[in-house]
Amino acid sequence: AATRYYTFNVKLQNVTRLCNTRAIPTVNGKFPGPKIVTREGDRVVVKVVNNIKDNITIHWHGVRQMRTGWSDGPAYVTQCPIQTGQSYVYNFTINGQRGTLFWHAHVSWLRSTLYGPIIILPKAGLPLPFTEPHKDVPIIFGEWFNADPEAIVAQALQTGGGPNVSDAYTINGLPGPLYNCSSKGADTFRLKVQPGKMYLLRLINAALNDELFFSVANHTLTVVDVDASYVKPFDTDVVLITPGQTTNVLLRAKPTAEAAGATHLMMARPYATGRPGTYDNTTVAAVLEYAPPGHIKSLPLLRPSLPALNDTAFAAGFAAKLRSLACPDYPSNVPRRVDKPFFFAVGLGTTPCPGSNNQTCQGPTNTTKFTASINNVSFDMPTTALLQAHYTGQSAGVYTADFPASPLEPFNYTGTPPNNTNVSNGTRVVVLPYNASVEVVLQDTSILGAESHPLHLHGFDFFVVGQGTGNYDPSKHPAEFNLVDPVQRNTVGVPAGGWVAIRFFADNPGVWFMHCHLEVHTTWGLKMAWVVNDGPLPEQKLMPPPSDLPMC
Ligand code: C2O
Repeated sequence: AATRYYTFNVKLQNVTRLCNTRAIPTVNGKFPGPKIVTREGDRVVVKVVNNIKDNITIHWHGVRQMRTGWSDGPAYVTQCPIQTGQSYVYNFTINGQRGTLFWHAHVSWLRSTLYGPIIILPKAGLPLPFTEPHKDVPIIFGEWFNADPEAIVAQALQTGGGPNVSDAYTINGLPGPLYNCSSKGADTFRLKVQPGKMYLLRLINAALNDELFFSVANHTLTVVDVDASYVKPFDTDVVLITPGQTTNVLLRAKPTAEAAGATHLMMARPYATGRPGTYDNTTVAAVLEYAPPGHIKSLPLLRPSLPALNDTAFAAGFAAKLRSLACPDYPSNVPRRVDKPFFFAVGLGTTPCPGSNNQTCQGPTNTTKFTASINNVSFDMPTTALLQAHYTGQSAGVYTADFPASPLEPFNYTGTPPNNTNVSNGTRVVVLPYNASVEVVLQDTSILGAESHPLHLHGFDFFVVGQGTGNYDPSKHPAEFNLVDPVQRNTVGVPAGGWVAIRFFADNPGVWFMHCHLEVHTTWGLKMAWVVNDGPLPEQKLMPPPSDLPMC
């Protein structure tokens, strides 16, 4: 196995999109940031140097970080942020994962511009379980804001306002030809393909606040891997990808340029069941082109068709098609028994406007703020890192180990919500014994309307054993769970007006964040943390902290 060294110099860079120039935080002046290319089994060492005025951290989204929680990156969870002028070396090994992940800043909303692909090749000599592609191409979705997103998060925190929506979605940092702007030619990502060849598109949703539908005109996509785990291949015209998810798809170019006969758009736009008007409903496009045959002068431009913005039936059908390989080379170790069952009601709510009467809030009424919670708890970020408090045994005053295993009072989650949702704030965690087998049923609540929430768990790849619409029924649904070939991933959409059940073994000692990957919901409190205790053996213990770990 090799060691791959990188230096990430975080600095401002002038970038122009939609005819608007802004100095944005970048890594090494690139937007999107540089790719990490590694192999399963390799060690990755990244020195991150902070040359901007904001505190930063970088998270290696989806990397399991076995016993190396100090390198996971969420600010105030596994580390204090890297301050201006300081640096920190992230050092971790990739094990049991292959495919695509991504890295992003994990403090405030800085991930709006600080993100890039992580490409994990299989171990040398190990074949792919699908056709070897001619070329692989990262397709990374993001959002472009003409204004500074840091001002938006400040507003979301203080007044509970909905997010000012972004001004465009981007593919590889570029908004594409459907947006009005005089420099639109330069603003478009173009993929040139050769007839007859196979391409692996590594789709990454790094957008802040929207799940996306993606499609390529007149080409079928074969899904082969999600969140760096292989799946049983299946064909689809449209992929649904939530923030925090990655999906590898194969695209076979038409046999000849004549057969292609067109220039094809690749397009993405949101799947958004939530509050209308609080999301960006624009469409990003990139161009897939074949070298035009000499005798054809101008080619027609083909657009794919995408599902409606609120097509929850498509979302459910797409999720149901995802199955892990579960074969002798890639067995599934889904937990068959459950030691620790949890039922988490996740959703939005409101809370009274704080402080003096002359403060106006921006919730549903001007005396309320939006809030978001799990089991009536809206999570408060601590001012020191949870992992350090856990490791040094000094949790008093930092967190309490009393995160509720179920809601205060059950209600009809998909029916009329209760008047008082009893949300309280706290830095509350669940403490798990080493290697406990954990089941979490995530139930969407309709308190402010049904909305899909992409829940992301750090430190684990969980198994998605069941999902459904309506209320979860413990007397009926467990019998229908898939314990044979459930998909394994790190981010799952909790269906709008429905539920999803996940399982994992708590085999990674440390402190692991779980949160909605819609950044505005995280800001409002839809987050919590799991503390996994050390096991008895040396190889079951969290490693000691690195000497350059930043202090708060
Ligand atoms: Cu991709 Cu906690 O995040």
